[in-house]
Amino acid sequence: MLLQLSIVAILFLCPAWAENFYQDVTVTFGDQRAQIQDGGRVLVLSLDKNSGSRFQSKNEYLFGRFDVQLKLVPGNSAGTVTTFYLTSQGAGHDEIDFEFLGNSSGQPYTVHTNVYSQGKGNKEQQFRLWFDPTSSFHTYSIVWNSQRIIFLVDNIPIRVYNNDEALGVAFPKNQAMRVTASLWNADDWATQGGRVKTDWSMAPFTASYRNFNTNACVWSAATSTSSCGGSKTDSVNNVQTWQTQELNASERNRLRWVQQKYMIYNYCTDAKRLSQGLSPECKHSSRNSEEWSLSERPQSALQAATHNGRLVTGSSIVVQTTISPVVYGSINCSTIGLMQKLINFQFLISTKKRKKLISQKEHYPSVATDMEFVVIDMESIATDMELVASDVEPLQQICSLLEYIKPTVLMV
Ligand SMILES: *[C@@H]1O[C@H](CO)[C@@H](O)[C@H](O)[C@H]1NC(C)=O
Ligand SMILES: *[C@@H]1O[C@H](CO)[C@@H](O)[C@H](O)[C@H]1NC(C)=O
Ligand SMILES: *[C@@H]1O[C@H](CO)[C@@H](O)[C@H](O)[C@H]1NC(C)=O
Repeated sequence: MLLQLSIVAILFLCPAWAENFYQDVTVTFGDQRAQIQDGGRVLVLSLDKNSGSRFQSKNEYLFGRFDVQLKLVPGNSAGTVTTFYLTSQGAGHDEIDFEFLGNSSGQPYTVHTNVYSQGKGNKEQQFRLWFDPTSSFHTYSIVWNSQRIIFLVDNIPIRVYNNDEALGVAFPKNQAMRVTASLWNADDWATQGGRVKTDWSMAPFTASYRNFNTNACVWSAATSTSSCGGSKTDSVNNVQTWQTQELNASERNRLRWVQQKYMIYNYCTDAKRLSQGLSPECKHSSRNSEEWSLSERPQSALQAATHNGRLVTGSSIVVQTTISPVVYGSINCSTIGLMQKLINFQFLISTKKRKKLISQKEHYPSVATDMEFVVIDMESIATDMELVASDVEPLQQICSLLEYIKPTVLMV
């Protein structure tokens, strides 16, 4: 009986591996501009001067993993926006967005991501892609659970948006959402800030979707129940990977690679635009809190080097790295704006073997602080974080790490 029950639950969780567009979506805008093809496997959206088009899942979901393969408008796509997103209905809505902003021929698309909770957005991050998204299909995924939202491109995480309700930041978790996709004209803002307009002589513009897949909790508004369990919380009994998904070390590494090389806009660094200042989750780390908040181990290492919340004079946190080449010197984190005057420290990094740390003030008269030196031998950071030499800017990594553990340091 128990076995039967769990099989039924699993069937509910994964209605099908690849969905059929005929069964699973409704065209909500643009009429015949949205064409289902190939027996329901492919859906082509188009845009002409009169209208764009849009489809939406018949089901509403409260948490899940949503994948689709997408081939974007080729050639001169300036002014067009192709989307794949989750949205709830009505006022104070929640939304999780992938938007692809077109461009003139030969110029790169912008991947725009955003999260709305209770009607409030302003959580934009934008990226370039490391491939041409118009020449073939690529997979775009949203993982949404009660702890975080992960945006993936070809299974590489490009963004993690954490549930920071503890910091007073609203997180979408109480409103069911439908999967939605659209192609529309936004030439008043989308391309190069609205300077490049849609060239209607190229219309109709088309974008193709296929292998739409949901592995998610279906929400029934009529009965206020989820296929994953009675309440609005994740089922604890039949936990799917996505329900607890977070990044492992190699995925955090991929995320850093994307964020360092391909991120072109981050709301967390745009103090000018948001007049009330940066949102609390941004202060967590000035560069990107997401990667570090997932890592527990640096914190326990620090605890080992503290006594009553204060750093033990002369103590060291022993971690390892494979970073190459040897980097040797003193770090002044305030120069990169992360630690102000709190901590200055010295470090020595080597690929080959564990190195001695130099912590005598006389070697570095400029970095004396009232906290003494935190000494970090980088050798085990590699095992913790799997840093890859060519992808990593060591100073920033270390300072981000310290930024992350700062609350522990200050706890007296
Ligand atoms: C379009 O190309 C220009 C020039 O390369 C670039 O500045 C811009 O960010 C690109 N994307 C959009 C959506 O304007
Ligand atoms: C990390 O996660 C990815 C994607 O789920 C998986 O392919 C990989 O094997 C994992 N790596 C480790 C070290 O667990
Ligand atoms: C840190 O670097 C900045 C910029 O180079 C410098 O002005 C400041 O004095 C340095 N602070 C310490 C404690 O060395």
